[in-house]
Amino acid sequence: MACVGIFDSGLGGLTVWSALRQHLPQLPCLYLADQAHLPYGPRSTDNIQDLCVAATHALRSQGAELIVVACNTASAAALEHLRTTFPDLAFVGMEPAVKPAALQTRSGVVGLMATRGTLQGALLRNTAARFAGHVEIVASDCPGLAEAIETDAKDLDAQLRKHLEPMLARGADTVVLGCTHYPLAMTLIRRIVGPDVHIIDPSPAIARQVGRLWQGASTSMATRFATTAEPTHLGNFLRQRFQTDVVIEHWHWRN
Ligand code: SIN
Repeated sequence: MACVGIFDSGLGGLTVWSALRQHLPQLPCLYLADQAHLPYGPRSTDNIQDLCVAATHALRSQGAELIVVACNTASAAALEHLRTTFPDLAFVGMEPAVKPAALQTRSGVVGLMATRGTLQGALLRNTAARFAGHVEIVASDCPGLAEAIETDAKDLDAQLRKHLEPMLARGADTVVLGCTHYPLAMTLIRRIVGPDVHIIDPSPAIARQVGRLWQGASTSMATRFATTAEPTHLGNFLRQRFQTDVVIEHWHWRN
């Protein structure tokens, strides 16, 4: 059946899947977590492009006609490459939400958490230049944070503080979560920044964009989930965090 394929380096894209499920509960979805290759953040552009092409081939072979690149690092490194390589497919990618942040900030200082790959990408440079020239962006590349969230590391709170406190000290009143993993730590992030700081999670905007593009049928079928790593962790995570109990498929390829 024609479906929407969603992929990420791991569990972070589940925040996008969850927003899609709320916005479009009847959307036929297939989610792929490329956990065998997590993290994407420190990888080279060529390597990320190869991984994204492999993921897209796999999703297309299972009926995906619209692909959501639910990973900021992958979107920064590979979205244009994917559009050129697969002209028959539609793609929606993540973009660091500096535009809404620039519109909302009162202090004129915006915090941005993202991987190094995202911070160094042309996508962020161009978006910031177009929409956020008048604000100060205090960015933190967050080495190891996606894995720490994925594994619920004991020092997660300390790691988050290390990135967030300097932003707050510089006067940021708005924080952009520029990696789909970070909203999974929303409760801790909110506790650290306090009630008055605006936190921007771009997932609902991505869900609305998918809704505008999807031309296919609706379904009552549950989402299929696959991972390139051992499936237990994804299965447990889905049960605990999203009350979703499904059999996880194991796909694999070398890269
Ligand atoms: C990672 O795999 O390093 C995180 C990916 C992201 O930017 O969402």
